Amino acid sequence: MRTTVATVVMVMLCVMMARADVKPQRDFSLQKFAGKWYRVGLAYDSPSFAPYRDKIKASMGIVTALPNGNVNLTMWDATPLGCQSKLYQYEKTNVAGTFTYFSTRHNMVKDITVVDTNYTDYALVLKHKVFNREYTQVALYGRSQSVRTNVIQRFKAFALSQGFSRDSILTPPPAENCPPSASGR
Ligand SMILES: *[C@@H]1O[C@H](CO)[C@@H](O)[C@H](O)[C@H]1NC(C)=O
Ligand SMILES: *[C@@H]1O[C@H](CO)[C@@H](O)[C@H](O)[C@H]1NC(C)=O
Repeated sequence: MRTTVATVVMVMLCVMMARADVKPQRDFSLQKFAGKWYRVGLAYDSPSFAPYRDKIKASMGIVTALPNGNVNLTMWDATPLGCQSKLYQYEKTNVAGTFTYFSTRHNMVKDITVVDTNYTDYALVLKHKVFNREYTQVALYGRSQSVRTNVIQRFKAFALSQGFSRDSILTPPPAENCPPSASGR
């Protein structure tokens, strides 16, 4: 009886760890990662987000590398109230390419992993609360508002591998005039 319970627990742990076992970009460089990005892809399964799927736009963000290795991320979102910017503060961990941040919306600490980036074109980022899909997102960032098809395909394959449904994997259109000064640049 004891062994059966132990085996079940072990199997469950293995399944959970397999999900969580996403490695950051090797030799991650925050300096190279800093600067302007567009969130050109988003996978998000939360039922409360589903009604907004067709409304989201490819938001712009600026990653500022702080001297202590933390990050200030400013994102601009086109909302019904207009274009609004929001600051996210990511704290470094002892593993390069992984950060934590406190989500005020969900009132919990989440983990951020920069899974894959070549710095000049794209970055695949996993934001997760381990084992809880409600709070997990995959984002694809591009240095410009359009990235190559093979990068989009890699993003979709990664999101599917993380258990996201096809319906929840989005490649939103560009935001118009948000932030206002970014247009025409
Ligand atoms: C990062 O954000 C904090 C909080 O708003 C602010 O005090 C700090 O000046 C910012 N640092 C940089 C380099 O933008
Ligand atoms: C980054 O990826 C893009 C698209 O796949 C490619 O064209 C570019 O050469 C890559 N840059 C580097 C530095 O690897």
